[in-house]
Amino acid sequence: MIGLFDSGVGGLSVVRALLQMAPESSFVYVGDTARVPYGNKSPDLVRAYAIQGVRTLIAEGATSIVIACNTVSATAISALQATFPETRFYEVITPAVALALALPSARVVGVIGTRTTIATEVYQRTIATRAAELNRQIRVVTAACPLFVPLAEEGWVKRAETRRIARTYLQPIRQAQADALILGCTHYPMLIDAIRASVQRRVTLIDSASAVVRAVQTAEPSLFAPTQRPLQRFLFTDASPRTQEVAQAWLRRPIQITSVNIAET
Ligand code: DGL
Repeated sequence: MIGLFDSGVGGLSVVRALLQMAPESSFVYVGDTARVPYGNKSPDLVRAYAIQGVRTLIAEGATSIVIACNTVSATAISALQATFPETRFYEVITPAVALALALPSARVVGVIGTRTTIATEVYQRTIATRAAELNRQIRVVTAACPLFVPLAEEGWVKRAETRRIARTYLQPIRQAQADALILGCTHYPMLIDAIRASVQRRVTLIDSASAVVRAVQTAEPSLFAPTQRPLQRFLFTDASPRTQEVAQAWLRRPIQITSVNIAET
């Protein structure tokens, strides 16, 4: 069974892609809403939290895990693979870079993400490696957007305040005349309208949600086999009514959310 892990509701953007592609598949989602945001925390702490989250997913029956969080993908993938050698992991950074570099006209690529993701420079390194393989010159411009995750968790996706904050954060991306913009945080698709309005119209926005789901499907098609009674579980470390509301609004369907204590697993 597929497991998905994120610091909060952001990884539901990957669940949304999964449900579009395979509505009858079984999965379990863990969102660490009690400790979100991860993006301002140190890589060591993010790794410790991610290990707890993944341990919970494995205990719930997950055999392959999508790290549906850029911050965890940027800081913890090797630690997770070393801690859980039997489990197959999928991260969200490589698919996003592949999508950006599949655009033949992309010369300037913008990347927005949490402070921790941007500080790791993982996107710059991954883009540089891929660009060298393709023999292309790509300029990368990054911007950390630390307020975006709390705004998405709060469901403030259409507010004027959110649009103003987006405009400020995305100023360097506009100035650099980016051709493509990677949404380097799984919460950001929720703020797509504000982000779209803050960059030039011709900019291609890149969200890796569908690409990561396709990567899982290609590698392990059996995980997508429709089941008679699909098991689709949504576990949150703080299963508040607000989390339920935001999750349902994003997935556009009623869901049952359950509380889980990952710190004890
Ligand atoms: N969805 C996480 C990401 O992709 C957000 C991290 C956070 O909690 O700040 O980076």
